[in-house]
Amino acid sequence: MKSNKLALIALLVWLATVAVFAWFFIRGNTVAGNDGRTAVVLQAGERDLILSEMRGMLAATQGILDGVNNGDMQHISQAARAAGMAVTVDASPALMAKLPLGLKRLGMSVHRDMDDIATAAEKGRPPAEILKMTSGVLTKCVACHATWQLRLANQGSQ
Ligand code: HEC
Repeated sequence: MKSNKLALIALLVWLATVAVFAWFFIRGNTVAGNDGRTAVVLQAGERDLILSEMRGMLAATQGILDGVNNGDMQHISQAARAAGMAVTVDASPALMAKLPLGLKRLGMSVHRDMDDIATAAEKGRPPAEILKMTSGVLTKCVACHATWQLRLANQGSQ
């Protein structure tokens, strides 16, 4: 009887641990932002990494549009590929754990879209199709920016 109780307690503790991990996995390290968005709390180095990745995304978008305007498929493909899945390898597991699941999903899908645009350009797809894909990516940029912001952790030593 007693060992049954212990087993039940062990099971409950285990379930609680799993629930806490799941909660953090989905929510990431977030607090309510000051402008209605959700703020992801990061160390300075982590924030810098994401912001530099963002500036890369903006540069890629500009490069794609530039390439479309000049009919330069190679330029489109190079610009888009530079913001493809390959750039995500820089993120450490600690940073990944702090990012909410929805943000990670959206971020990954944008990198995948960039690779798709690069491939479409390499295959010589029509400019209208490339513009449509780019417009779809920009919708995701806007959606993510409307939902999340980045905030520095005060107690950080990084
Ligand atoms: C998955 C979420 C997400 C996606 C997708 C996303 N961003 Fe961002 N981006 C952010 C967050 C969060 C910030 C920080 C905003 C803040 O703190 O107010 C940011 C900041 C930026 C900045 C500011 C960089 C700086 O140095 O301050 C630029 C530029 C930017 N994003 C461009 C883009 C472009 C272009 C795209 C699409 C091709 C894009 N982002 C897609 C989340 C995202």
